[in-house]
Amino acid sequence: SKNLFQLAIDGPAASGKSSTARIAAQRLKFEYIDSGAMYRVVTLAALRQNLSPLSLDDASKITYLAATSHIFLHTIFNPPPISHTSSSKPSLPQTLVYLNGEDVTHEIRSQEITKNISGIASNPDVRQVLVEKQRALANGIYDYEGENSSFKLDTLRKSPKGIVMDGRDVGTVVLPNADLKIFVTASARVRAIRRYKELQQQQSTIKKPLIDFNKVLEDLEKRDKSDYERKISPLKKADDAVLLDTSDMSVMEQADKIIELVLKRAKEKNFDL
Ligand code: CDP
Ligand code: CDP
Ligand code: CDP
Repeated sequence: SKNLFQLAIDGPAASGKSSTARIAAQRLKFEYIDSGAMYRVVTLAALRQNLSPLSLDDASKITYLAATSHIFLHTIFNPPPISHTSSSKPSLPQTLVYLNGEDVTHEIRSQEITKNISGIASNPDVRQVLVEKQRALANGIYDYEGENSSFKLDTLRKSPKGIVMDGRDVGTVVLPNADLKIFVTASARVRAIRRYKELQQQQSTIKKPLIDFNKVLEDLEKRDKSDYERKISPLKKADDAVLLDTSDMSVMEQADKIIELVLKRAKEKNFDL
């Protein structure tokens, strides 16, 4: 029988959701579901068909794409270390993302996608399609035939003890009955510094074009604003979510705190984790 512990983590960009959700999933033997990746994949699929995320004329075509595209999320736990020199530091679990069989893991993180995502994320029909898929995944259904959509997902763990899904509306809309909801925040400044460091690391050491910190901060605040203020499924702390300010926490401290909260709740609810 399936009695999966459901952990919902929501919060703004760079609040540490995905890193800590992956670490928690690895340690707790949970499945990890990246709901943001699904919005990114649909944005990519739309742009490739020259559909405009903001055009009302294209909205129904984009919804059709969301319903019919095959989306695979494949998280690799215990990945090999990136290099031998840094082998003392374990690598975080990685999520590979496929669109209709093509590996789009890196492409969906591009600025082009991030810039266009708000038009997709504010389309109510697209949201409905993706929420339906997300709920199926959270209930351990990896091979799914819905009314208008079907998908197949690799069974990533033989028998997960639970699932963790991160996003914007997981606690409020996708999994309103989640066993534990956590809303993570950090000041805009701290989050912009995190993104800035990530962008610096992604750059080659030979060619170093300048990244403007103020531009990073501005982009982040713009996306915060559209996520918090959109009409449908805005970013919002669920009433029963635990609020966690991570401004002064390291990734590991944040992950430890989340795992501690899960174990406490699991005990109260008689889950055998
Ligand atoms: O990693 P980061 O927080 O920057 O982004 P993400 O989680 O990949 O989400 C990208 C965008 O997808 C967000 O800014 C939201 O507009 C949208 N999204 C959403 O609307 N609902 C979700 N459950 C997850 C993401
Ligand atoms: O998923 P989300 O956009 O909320 O954040 P993330 O991708 O997990 O984290 C964004 C960046 O912030 C990563 O480079 C993390 O290593 C870093 N981070 C941090 O330095 N301290 C934290 N407490 C959380 C995240
Ligand atoms: O049966 P269906 O076409 O729905 O799905 P599939 O044959 O299981 O997977 C479709 C394609 O996704 C495969 O041919 C693989 O190339 C790709 N895929 C992958 O490369 N890695 C995964 N973890 C999942 C799918």
